Amino acid sequence: MSAPRRKLFVTTALPYANGPFHIGHIMEYIQADIWVRFQRMQDHAVHFVGADDTHGAPIMLKAEAEGVTPQQLVARIAATRKKHLDGFHIRFDHWHSTDSPENVELSQDIYRKLKAQGLIYAKPVEQFYDPVKAMFLPDRYIKGTCPKCGTKDQYGDACENCSSTYAPTDLVDPYSTLTGAKPELRKSEHLFFRLSDPAIVAFLRGWTKQPAPGQTLQPEVLNKIHEWLGDADGADKLTDWDISRDAPYFGIPIPDEPGKYFYVWLDAPVGYLASLKSYFDSGKAKAYGEQRPFAEFLSAPDTEQFHFIGKDIVYFHTLFWPAMLKFAGAPYKVPTNVFVHGFLTALGEKMSKSRGTGISPDYYLDLGLDPEWLRYYIAAKLNDRVEDIDFNPDDFVARVNSDLIGKYVNIASRLIAIIDREFDGQLAAEPFGRFYSAKFGPLEPQEKEPREWTIGEEDRAAANCLAAILGLNREIFGAYQQREFGKAMRSIMFLADQINEYVDQARPWVLARDPERRIELQRICSFGISAFKILSAYLKPVLPALAERVEMMLQIAPMSWNDTRTILASSHKIQRYKHLMSRIDPKQIDALIEGPKIAATKPSPVAPPAAFDSAATPAPAVPTISIDDFGKLDLRIGRIVNAEQVDGADKLLKLTLDIGEGRNRTVFAGIKSAYLPEDLIGRLTPMVANLAPRKMKFGLSEGMVLAASGEGPGIFLLAPDAGALPGMRVK
Ligand code: MSP
Ligand code: ZN
Repeated sequence: MSAPRRKLFVTTALPYANGPFHIGHIMEYIQADIWVRFQRMQDHAVHFVGADDTHGAPIMLKAEAEGVTPQQLVARIAATRKKHLDGFHIRFDHWHSTDSPENVELSQDIYRKLKAQGLIYAKPVEQFYDPVKAMFLPDRYIKGTCPKCGTKDQYGDACENCSSTYAPTDLVDPYSTLTGAKPELRKSEHLFFRLSDPAIVAFLRGWTKQPAPGQTLQPEVLNKIHEWLGDADGADKLTDWDISRDAPYFGIPIPDEPGKYFYVWLDAPVGYLASLKSYFDSGKAKAYGEQRPFAEFLSAPDTEQFHFIGKDIVYFHTLFWPAMLKFAGAPYKVPTNVFVHGFLTALGEKMSKSRGTGISPDYYLDLGLDPEWLRYYIAAKLNDRVEDIDFNPDDFVARVNSDLIGKYVNIASRLIAIIDREFDGQLAAEPFGRFYSAKFGPLEPQEKEPREWTIGEEDRAAANCLAAILGLNREIFGAYQQREFGKAMRSIMFLADQINEYVDQARPWVLARDPERRIELQRICSFGISAFKILSAYLKPVLPALAERVEMMLQIAPMSWNDTRTILASSHKIQRYKHLMSRIDPKQIDALIEGPKIAATKPSPVAPPAAFDSAATPAPAVPTISIDDFGKLDLRIGRIVNAEQVDGADKLLKLTLDIGEGRNRTVFAGIKSAYLPEDLIGRLTPMVANLAPRKMKFGLSEGMVLAASGEGPGIFLLAPDAGALPGMRVK
């Protein structure tokens, strides 16, 4: 009897739609995808959805700088998602957007229900306002001089020099990073969600202790929450949440509050439900036998709701989000659990959108690297704690080559060749000879028969090997269930060692020379191949494409979790050995780490590295000029408000620069080999502002940016010292 299917609704955090996925996103999706595939192997119904997080000031401003609508910007980014998701075998059932009718409907509904509970109120807020841009400034667009130590150009919340924290209003000489203007303090009415309400605080104390029967938050997460709730001080610390933003804002209008929009973090998690709703409305849930409409599924007591997120967004997911859902009431239901992971770093460096360091998932796929190498490596590093994991190239190569290829694939390549050659692909009629019984303990309630195995008495080594495989069955199951993937991979590789040792001792290649021992030979190989099948089933959540190749080669149906406990049928026929997975050539990883930047930076004889802007190629020897000649140059500080690739251009990036003229300039710069566009956005750099505009194949270039280069590789964009502002003259 199989246990009733669980009904799971699983999400990953919704990525901001202002840029393509970075490797940190991919890590999160791989983690969730492994867990989801593990549940599906037990025949549970899992509805796994994602979406783009589209709203907020940064996306609005970026779109504006590019001269497109936010919707166009979002659509352009959304179009890049499929390549990465498919490329890394991440199988969401549905991908949607927070800028969707479903999200408008659900966000407004939740808001109305909270309001009806008396949990929303209005209060005037005094905030910085950019008079040039005519908008209230989010804190991240305000800089100024640190009130404590006097360091210039510090953000509104903390000083990078002396680490003191303060409010943006404490800054000395604050300025808007959008226009350089001095911001004014202005008052406006904001709407607040009453998070400090005693009923909400009491609910959160309970929910965070036990989100659902049998569920707990991770200890590190709980510690943080205790801090936020003020549990140690005995004082309630939660403050009410400002959920509104004034126009202009790219967001969802707040009902009956003209000119006000939901703060992006209100509608972002609702986007989980919006995606689920769109998925249900499209009829796709029926593929899992789910006939109920969205709201009925969502509110059903046995529907489990899990969110995978990174450590930086715990507050939103463990305080705001459950409180919103709980107090909005039916059909909304609080999450069953929130699974938090640490950050992926590359070579010890934190991945960041602004610097774009690390490994580009796009480039990984373009280089033709096997996505399952990365899936395996990430699985091998993950546990259920909130720890950062580092992508280390040597470790990556070693784990894949020695574990995956050297241990696991090795079993199949050795034994299948023999079965093919000696027995025309046919396995033994009685793979385990005379009977020997091995039990492997009580099963999980949802596990299926068989619970007992019989193995050959005359082959004690096989019996022991099998006992080891069965003995770890529950442990591996539990490790997957707990997101202890590293532990699961270690157990599986331990078993691969055992099987290889068995084969080494049985020496089938020696037996193959002895016509008297053919039955024994066939039995040994058949046992080894059955053991390999079990390992393949164990690895299937991590290596789904490889598992498919194995299923084809072994001529078996798609493996379920039950396949981790069953041997291949007597006299079963398999196909001949086919290449399963390649070793990594360390050179491939060098190319990946260097990234598209360095690979293309070699100075070429045709275009000397000194040639920088596409419009100008300075001569090698430059004659002396007078100060008046120099004065003819109008050099200005510009802020790169956008940078992007140019379709069809090998060397150029398209830059959009703000040089304080009230309009932006477009410059095509030959720096593609040295910079990723996302590294450039926000930087200040001098530009020649009075260079005659030049019509190029890709558009009009209205100036030139300046950079240094020499004989060797590399192009280095100039940058002013801290304090310079867009529009300042360089003399
Ligand atoms: N849009 C919000 C989430 C809204 S959820 C309703 C957001 N977006 S994000 O694009 O910045 O991050 C998306 C997810 O990626 C988050 O879970 C975040 O923690 C995760 N990661 C971002 N950088 C990461 C690494 N370097 N490593 C692992 N995960 C990382 O936050
Ligand atoms: Zn300071």
